[in-house]
Amino acid sequence: IKRITTSTIKELKAKGEKISMLTAYDYSIAKVLDNAGVEVILVGDSAANVIAGYETTLPITLDQMIYHASSVVRATEHALVLVDLPFGSYQGSADEAFKSAVRMMKESGAHALKLEGGIEIIDNIKKIIAAGIPVCGHLGLTPQSINKFGTFGVRAKEDAEAEKLIADAKALEEAGCFAVVLEKIPAALAKKVTASLSMATIGIGAGDDCDGQVLVVNDFLGLTKDFKPKFVRQYLKLYDEILVAAGQYVKDVKSGNFPNEQEQY
Ligand code: KIV
Ligand code: NA
Repeated sequence: IKRITTSTIKELKAKGEKISMLTAYDYSIAKVLDNAGVEVILVGDSAANVIAGYETTLPITLDQMIYHASSVVRATEHALVLVDLPFGSYQGSADEAFKSAVRMMKESGAHALKLEGGIEIIDNIKKIIAAGIPVCGHLGLTPQSINKFGTFGVRAKEDAEAEKLIADAKALEEAGCFAVVLEKIPAALAKKVTASLSMATIGIGAGDDCDGQVLVVNDFLGLTKDFKPKFVRQYLKLYDEILVAAGQYVKDVKSGNFPNEQEQY
């Protein structure tokens, strides 16, 4: 299989074939996802939550995102590696956004970048796209704006916010974005937005009519014990499995069962 590109993503939407996306932050997990045929691996700034243990995504830096992204790029042969630009690295001006985007592309080898927001940052997005860097938008519950929203509840339930989201999505498409992530919005709104765009919509908590789906890999693996909103499907219960395994390891070390004859030189 050759490398998935942003053209492949457009083709999948045109064909009506759904697009699979999962996050990854490190080499080992990214390698498995790549071999499983996940089309897009998102190096999300959710690393701030699931890797670093922060309550929000705001603290993660561009340098830290570059480290995660370069680890994922080295692991993949097939997947398109999409990387979040972190809070504070692209909102200030088109020049700032351009500089951050170029650093990420040069230093990590990422294939495309994701930025949160619509019309407010459209000039910044255009400047990045003009440099030949593919951009994916992100609308709805955009976690970098959590202090504005005040809650992690569903966005765009009211008409005014829904109309703004539709206008933002149109603006992103016109700016040349190849896709947009729709996070935690009513399924009916996501359906309407998806039908109105030729670029792909990738949903998370946005219903089954999006062109693709994304989950945070730690949630997908059941590695996060304290976070289970209804849009998450846990395909494994890794927290429980690791808990049992680590408990067994402690016992085996203490009893002298590990290492055995075959496990030493
Ligand atoms: O950072 C992230 O994991 C994301 C997805 C939830 C879309 O942006
Ligand atoms: Na993100």
